[in-house]
Amino acid sequence: MAKTKIAVLISGRGSNMQALIEAAQDEDFPAEIVLVASNNPDAAGLEIARAAGIETEVVNHREFDDRESFEEALDSTIRLYGARIVCLAGFMRILTPWFTERWRDLLINIHPSLLPAFKGLHTHERALEAGVRIHGCTVHYVRPEMDDGPIIGQAAVPVLPGDTPDTLSARVLQAEHALYAQCVALACSGKARVAGERVRLQVREFGAELLMNPHD
Ligand code: GAR
Repeated sequence: MAKTKIAVLISGRGSNMQALIEAAQDEDFPAEIVLVASNNPDAAGLEIARAAGIETEVVNHREFDDRESFEEALDSTIRLYGARIVCLAGFMRILTPWFTERWRDLLINIHPSLLPAFKGLHTHERALEAGVRIHGCTVHYVRPEMDDGPIIGQAAVPVLPGDTPDTLSARVLQAEHALYAQCVALACSGKARVAGERVRLQVREFGAELLMNPHD
């Protein structure tokens, strides 16, 4: 079956991007990464992508007068490479409704919490402050509101005695890598479709650590 062309947007380290690159090396993975783009010319992930032989582009938001012109340039760049699905992987710019609606149901984000808990930044610190026993990560289709939208999958991660934001974030990050590849595969093979603002999954089984949408 033809692979779905995807673009991955990053702003920094790029470990989730790297997990997608590694997953996409499997011939059965339903997506091909045609572009890694960053708003930050110094994003470390750009080097990782280049070393893996993937095309990279920088669309530096600082070079644009406003959000709209930045997003138009980003959108054109993504389309130039023929990407059909866009994956945000630590992309730390808020996108306007113009962009999110243009890519409605084709734009995926990973967030380091069990949404809708702990939207925004510093999720691990806030989870520890709140005293939750279970933390985790979420992959979802993007809607205009920040860290909002139909959930494709979630992975639960225990909070352990003595955890610091660093130890907790490292444990969640490992779960992110597995979850993101699995959810992108579902989206790119048409097995995670949005219906009525919920994701309908067409799958028989998942890795045991994944909590998938119970509606299906
Ligand atoms: C990841 O933990 C990702 O979930 C988070 O940024 C980190 C990027 O790391 N994203 C957000 O907080 C978006 N709201 P990475 O560059 O190593 O993938």
